[in-house]
This record gives sequence, structure tokens and C-alpha cells, in this order.
Amino acid sequence: MTTQISTLQEYKEAYDQSVKDPEGFWRKEASTFQWEKDFDQVLDWNFEEPNVKWFLNGKLNITLNCLDRHIKDRGDQTAILWEANDPDAPSIRYTYKELLAEVCKCANGLKAQGIKKGDRVVFYMPMVPQLAIGVLACARIGAIHSVVFAGFSAQALADRVDDATAKMIICADYNNRGSKRIPVKKVVDDAMDLGCNSVDKVVVYKQTELPLNWSDDVDISWLDLTKEQSDFCEAEIMDSEDMLFILYTSGSTGKPKGVVHSCGGYMVYTCYSFRNVFQYKEGDVYWCTADIGWITGHSYIVYGPLLAGATTMMFEGVPTYPDAGRFWKICEKHKVNQFYTAPTAIRALMAKGNDWPAQYDLSSIKLLGSVGEPINEEAWHWYDKHIGKGKSPIIDTWWQTETGGIMITPLPGITDTKPTYASYPMPGIQTVLMDADGNELEGNNCEGLLCIKFPWPSMVRTTYGDHERCRTTYFSTFKNKYFTGDGARRDEDGRIRVIGRVDDVINVSGHRMGTAEVENAINEHPNVIESAVVGYPHDIKGQGIYAYIISQDKGVDDDFRKEILAVVTREIGPIAKPDKIQFVSGLPKTRSGKIMRRILRKIASNETENLGDVSTLLNPEVVQEVMDGALK
Ligand code: WT7
Repeated sequence: MTTQISTLQEYKEAYDQSVKDPEGFWRKEASTFQWEKDFDQVLDWNFEEPNVKWFLNGKLNITLNCLDRHIKDRGDQTAILWEANDPDAPSIRYTYKELLAEVCKCANGLKAQGIKKGDRVVFYMPMVPQLAIGVLACARIGAIHSVVFAGFSAQALADRVDDATAKMIICADYNNRGSKRIPVKKVVDDAMDLGCNSVDKVVVYKQTELPLNWSDDVDISWLDLTKEQSDFCEAEIMDSEDMLFILYTSGSTGKPKGVVHSCGGYMVYTCYSFRNVFQYKEGDVYWCTADIGWITGHSYIVYGPLLAGATTMMFEGVPTYPDAGRFWKICEKHKVNQFYTAPTAIRALMAKGNDWPAQYDLSSIKLLGSVGEPINEEAWHWYDKHIGKGKSPIIDTWWQTETGGIMITPLPGITDTKPTYASYPMPGIQTVLMDADGNELEGNNCEGLLCIKFPWPSMVRTTYGDHERCRTTYFSTFKNKYFTGDGARRDEDGRIRVIGRVDDVINVSGHRMGTAEVENAINEHPNVIESAVVGYPHDIKGQGIYAYIISQDKGVDDDFRKEILAVVTREIGPIAKPDKIQFVSGLPKTRSGKIMRRILRKIASNETENLGDVSTLLNPEVVQEVMDGALK
């Protein structure tokens, strides 16, 4: 197992060593895994192309490390503990032995359908154990998984399937979410009508007996895929730098891009970070409430915990069903030791009052995690007081889809915590703040653009099918640095607080969204001439979506608003629906025709006292009109 730091002194030493001798540092951690053939070089890199390779010529299979490796010592320990949406349904457990058997059956089933090393398989599934099993089955045979969050629309799913030229989609029939039952297979059918020409087969995990549209040529049930299969499957031997998965994420321009992670480095860093950040101890029950459709679920529900031999919980439902006590009820029921969730969930539950957590015994909780967006002070204190009872350190973990693992965080019980501060970089992570002119900010008490100046094992390798996009997005803003897109401040003691995106990316309930993507969706409406989308502070969601729309139609009304919401739901999904829509006759533009988003952001945020100089705009008169019509 990778090293587990337990004192401040050890953290400082590990950090220093990781900077002085990164190769020696990671060689030691990497050597704790099972390699089918040892790597012969730790690192080869340049950030120009970029070209980053870790553990060169090493051969491995990540599932041998997640599963087989644990059978001897903890074969009968629970690997995955699953809690259904329905509070009366029994919990389901898979021991490490059982999980390995299920993964092998599924892997053999995939092979029988012609899936082989390098093929892409898209998952569009609710939070059922079969999602984790399917993902691991892909990894077992070297197929590249790409999980698409099941809240995305058919169009968004088809876009991702087409970009990945996936051979197979694995889905469920329905998704049980609170009191709703969402038809998942129907969305896949629609996506198949919209595109997905590369797809031969759709595998359907049936949770219900409800009727489904079925085509025998294409559709195959999970049961038929797996039932005749052996529970032994030889693992495909992968190179360290072979692709493990693609995960689509939004950027400031264009369509979502496929972030590519590779086998060796991702394995080493997710295990190392999981063990240190969550201070997982033998026998603990660890719960991350994220969806496996996002990177948090990949790294800290599936891979990190399983690599570390942990018991990881998966929850099918939502925090408010059947009531706002559900999370706490589950924590009590399973004596959860590490609880990891998003600020938006904390704020939503905080708004329901203190009585909900007060009804449950939360004494098993040792630490609380937060991820996905900045956590505000009020939510931090509520979490600390009402969930952690003042005794459980809060770890505010900053990272990204592209970083693969947690980058900046307090280590619980080891480093201090300070509300709203992600605090300290992990060993191996060389963070820097830059000013706009490309100078590294030295010393403390400063604010700048957050970059990372040295590679780490789980970093993005490329964007699928478009390496140049990877270069321009992350490596072209500053020479020889990975640019995160976030602004941050460093306090007088060197702790880092991540303030938020400085590009046209917004974060709505922890979901990352490109404003251009939402604009493109809105512009699909035939009566829309132009639109501009910005984020604004939202009490529960963190950021809400504010859309300014110029329409052909003079008579704008509520029906038109509804049509806009429907178009966005169709193109992206309900998570991208604007919270506020303002119809305007013009958008403030520079003389070269660029929309002045800075002004629109201020108006949407109700900060109009200090708009700055607008006289140089092409159309300064529209600013007053936009301000007068602003939605409060
Ligand atoms: C963006 C990445 C990585 C897990 C889920 C999100 C924001 C994430 C924090 C935090 C402040 C945070 C950043 C980042 N973010 N965690 N603890 N404090 N901001 O992954 O969808 O790739 O989004 O989320 O703006 O760039 P993602």
C-alpha cells in the first residue's frame, strides 16, 4: 500500500521530498502496486506539446490492484456497500471476492460481444452497483470507459458517444430518483436516433418489469450478457500510458471535451490521495455522495477506495428523499466514518433546518469532506457544527476532472483547517499563483491565477481526438505551466483559497458548465437572434444561470421562456436550464463586437454601482436598458 502520512512532520517531509526528488518520491509509491512488468523510467515530460508519461514501459492492470490483490487479506470484506433510493429496500453488499467475480462475468460478457482492448464503451446509468462493475469490467479487458452523467439529454449523450466513436452503450431501464422514475433506456433510444452510428450494441440493466422499446438486433439485457459467463477473466495487460478512461467536461469554448486519463499514473495517485486525504483505516465505512458520472465518483467512489482496499458506499438516491434526513439516516445506519459531499447539498440541507441531523446518531463520523465548488462560510460552519459536532475536521478538497485526483486540501488531524480554504497542496503537487503578465507571485498574502508547474501522476494526458485542444486549453496561457482556469488567494500563512473560475465556465450545484454551450443551446430556438449567459451568486446552487436574450419576437412572454427552457433541456439536460431569462434589445459590445460579459456578470449579480467605464462600448445606451430590466 502507498504511504499513509500521520503527522505534520511527515507531511512536511513528504512534501519537501516530492519537490526535491519527484521521481524518487513517486517511484517509491508506485512500487507498492502489483506490476506485471516493472516500469523502467519514472517520468518523461514537457508542457509544450504537452507530453507527459509516468512509469514508462510498466505493465499493469488496474483491476488486479483494485480486486485480485485484496482477495488474500480481505476477500470477505465488503468492497461496495449499496444503498437504494427506496429507504425500505435492503442494502446490498459485494465483498471483494464477489465483486471480482461479477467484474469477471461482465468482462467475459463484453468480450463475447466483441469488445476488445482500446474499444470505447459509454455508460449512461443510474447509481447502481452494475455501473461500478461495468466500469471495472472495461478496465479488466482494456476497453476505455466513458461514463456520461444520466441527467444529460439524448442530444448530449449522442454528442459524447459520437466524439468517442463508442462501440457500445451500457444503460439501465429506469433511474429511481426520489419519488421520480426516469426512463433511461428511452433517452438512449433517442440518442441512437440522433447519431451513435458507431454503436453496435446497447446493454440494458433492468431494474423493473416495466415494458421497454426493444430491438433484438441491438439491445441485450445485462442478465443475458453475464449469466452464462465464467467468473474468471484473465486481466488484459496494459501499458502505464494506455488510456483507462475518457470523461467529458465543459470548457469555456465549444463542445465538451473528452479528458483522457491513463492507467499507471491514475492508479498511483488516486490510491495515494485517497489513503492520505481520507485517512482511511481498516474497517472504516467511507461514503462519497457524488455520482460516478463525474470525476469525483471515478476517483473516490470506485478506483481510489478499491485500490486502498476500503469499503466504499454507493447511494442510488437523492439527499431529500423521502425527507431531508436521508443522508444522516444512512450515516447512522452504516456507521459511516468518512463523509464526502458537495457544498450545494450542504446548503440545501442546511435550508431544511437543524432538526434533521439532530434526529440521528452521527458519532461514527471522523471527518467531513467537501468538493466541487467553493464552500461558503455559513455552510462550512453549519457542516462543522451540526454534522461534525465540532470534532470532525472539514477537508475542503480542490481539484478538477483534469487533475484526476485531489490537489489542494487539509489533511484531517494533520494540518489545520480554516473555513473556505482548501489550504495546502498534496505532496507532489507544485501549485503557483501567477499574475496576468505571467509572473509567478512570490510570498504570501496575494491573489492570482492558479497553476501547477510540475507534472503529477494522474494529470490529463490529452483531450480525446484533439491533442491541440489540450495544449491550447491548459498549457498555452503560461509557458511551462498547467493553468487550472481558477483564481485563488494565498493567505498570510500560505493557505490557498480557491475563489472560482476566471474563464467562461460556471459552476451550478457543483456541475461544470460552459456559458458558450448554454448559449449555443438557447440559440437553437428559431426566434433567438443572440444570447449571452453568465453566472450569478445563488444561495443553494452556488451559481445560477442568467441568460440575456435578443429575440426576433417583440411579444416575449412566459410561453417563450418555457420554450427556451425546453430547448436547453433538449440540447444539454435540465441541469443547464437558466434560472433567469431577461429579454433585451441589445447586448453591450466592444467596438470589435465582443460581448462585454464583465458588465453582464455585474448586472446579473446586482453589483451595478461599479460598472466601470462603459463609454468606449459600441452601444453604451443598451447598458441602462439592461440594468432597468434586470431580474432581481
Ligand atoms: C472546478 C472543477 C473535482 C471534483 C468535482 C469538480 C471548482 C472544485 C473546489 C473547491 C473551490 C472548487 C473549480 C474547479 N472546484 N473543487 N474545493 N473549492 N472550487 O470537478 O467538474 O472538473 O470542476 O470546480 O472551479 O476548476 P470539475
